Amino acid sequence: MKNFKRTLITSALPYANGPVHIGHLAGVYVPADIYARYLRLKGEEVAFIGGSDEHGVPITLKAKKEGITPQDVVDKYHGMIKDSFEKFGISFDVYSRTSAKIHHETASEIFKTLHDKGAFIEQTSEQFFDEEAKQFLADRYITGTCPKCNYEKAYGDQCESCGSTLNATDLIDPKSVLSGNKPVMRQTKHWFLPLDQYEPWLREWILEEHKEWKPNVYGQCKSWIDGGLNPRAVTRDLDWGIPVPVEGGEGKVLYVWFDAPIGYISATKEWTPDWTKWWKDPETKLVHFIGKDNIVFHCIIFPVVLKAEGSYILPENVPANEFLNLEGDKISTSRNWAVWLHEYLEDFPGKEDVLKYTLTANAPETKDNDFTWKDFQTRNNSELVAIFGNFVNRALVLTDKYYDGIVPEAGELTEYDQQTLNEIGNLKKEVEKSIDTYHFREGLKSAMELARLGNKYLADMEPWKVVKTDPERVKTIMNTALQITANLTIVFEPFLPFTTDKLRGFMNFEKLDWHQLGRTDLIKGGHKIKTPELLFEKIEDEAIQAQVDKLLATKKVNELEQAEVNPPKDNIEYEDFAKLDIRIGTIIAAEKVAKTKKLLKLTIDTGIDKRTVVSGIAEYFEPEKIIGQQVSILVNLAPKILKGIESQGMILMAENGDGALVFVTAENKIKEGSEIR
Ligand code: 2FM
Ligand code: ZN
Repeated sequence: MKNFKRTLITSALPYANGPVHIGHLAGVYVPADIYARYLRLKGEEVAFIGGSDEHGVPITLKAKKEGITPQDVVDKYHGMIKDSFEKFGISFDVYSRTSAKIHHETASEIFKTLHDKGAFIEQTSEQFFDEEAKQFLADRYITGTCPKCNYEKAYGDQCESCGSTLNATDLIDPKSVLSGNKPVMRQTKHWFLPLDQYEPWLREWILEEHKEWKPNVYGQCKSWIDGGLNPRAVTRDLDWGIPVPVEGGEGKVLYVWFDAPIGYISATKEWTPDWTKWWKDPETKLVHFIGKDNIVFHCIIFPVVLKAEGSYILPENVPANEFLNLEGDKISTSRNWAVWLHEYLEDFPGKEDVLKYTLTANAPETKDNDFTWKDFQTRNNSELVAIFGNFVNRALVLTDKYYDGIVPEAGELTEYDQQTLNEIGNLKKEVEKSIDTYHFREGLKSAMELARLGNKYLADMEPWKVVKTDPERVKTIMNTALQITANLTIVFEPFLPFTTDKLRGFMNFEKLDWHQLGRTDLIKGGHKIKTPELLFEKIEDEAIQAQVDKLLATKKVNELEQAEVNPPKDNIEYEDFAKLDIRIGTIIAAEKVAKTKKLLKLTIDTGIDKRTVVSGIAEYFEPEKIIGQQVSILVNLAPKILKGIESQGMILMAENGDGALVFVTAENKIKEGSEIR
């Protein structure tokens, strides 16, 4: 193995179009944080880089849907994500964002360098264009019928119903999301990275020189390379992103996957003026933490960019994780099927480490895994509380009780004492081996073995009994137990930093580095500990049920959405309902409102009076055909001027999922002015 001087840890930049959830945490941020904390604790030189990915089509779509600008979207979510990472204790050295000026400059520069070196090929191709919106349409901006399953709302890149990957041109009856019109084909020029030219190099660099990469990562790279690499467009026709900085690039931006990984470099620049030692010195070990959907970008495309540029180092490892599911279903931001970090932090204050523990113990390192609230509860109650917490509590409470909190000197050790203490050194090696090879789950298990060992030691030694017959011996037992406890503050530091902090507080003990782990004289006789409190508390069924109920409610909303039925609104009181004055009326005149597509001006005989109502039903009804139609009208709605006409009330309509409208009226003709209640 190569010896490196320092480690540069990057973690995938989350899209700033939603908050982060447990899938992000388990896949990327928790393992990256463990690795960073571990190396720091060993005294190594480390940079841990993070930031938000603020470009790309999903962000522009979200902005459009919410009627705000893309910058508004990313400002909102970047702030939210950064804040919850901080509260959760992800120990980034810098958390930047790709809308930052320094990032725009860095990405532009790298693009220009590649362009000037002739590393790109330029190609003109036909793309969908919306003539009304006057813009080219990214795949996500086109919907249509899936050619495989006939689902009518498939996207240009994927059908969410049958899961097929599609080309926009495959869609039957394609429509622009912007105008609803059928798009036309138009020629457009783009810059392509000729990945095919790098195939021999990629084969050598990954398939020969990095056989140690995780099998899921190596396997995916191999199948990409064996499948044949094609030139890949690195620019897009879009108005949100980093403008293409070369001639002919007007109106185009860099492809989000071209600029996002460069975000690691920009963030490092933001963090330190000495950034080149992190990115250009071969003695720096670069490790990318990512999820499995990012493998091709970090193992093939970004390395090709760096290689083509020529002055950067390449990743030494890319320990990508598989996916975490939630209660048996794929986590999805759009379906709100997730445990959101900011909500967890509110619902379980002070329990950051419980989530870290669960996500690490159940990390999707080799295959997809499932998060369930039941498992979360069990991990807390049966492992953290019953093993780790129980041991520490006994050790500290007994010390408090027998010796007023003053650590007793050890007498002569028995063979069993010695064996127990020796085991700490063995576990240290196990944990190191695991973390060094990115097996964090196994590493946590070995750390937990130390707590188990302590628990078993006290259970076997039963100091609470021995104290009655041989109080001298109890001093040695308690001293041994406290040495184990002191070691726990080190071994858990990378995994459960809030807990070790708390534990050191109880023990009135300083923070020790990793190299002290395994020592059996960490805590000295005569040292005074503080009055201990509980390290972990039990999580009750009610708290778990509340989370399960929240998910059930989400499921219900999703089912209704699937059936194109709007979800129910919040309950109201009878008094609120009784305020509505709804009557039967008859339309006695109707005409189109000039210069509008949707509005009709209706005259209604309400039984009370004859009044004017402006109604948005012109696309569904011809004015002359609805004269004489009985309707339900809300007569006490405050009047409102619409297109210069005062509208005095509202006609009630029923609308189905397709937007078709039907009048709501009485079953038989009834006198105008009849009340509906
Ligand atoms: O998959 C994602 O969420 C991407 N935003 C990850 C980008 S990682 C890096 F390239 F910035
Ligand atoms: Zn389909």
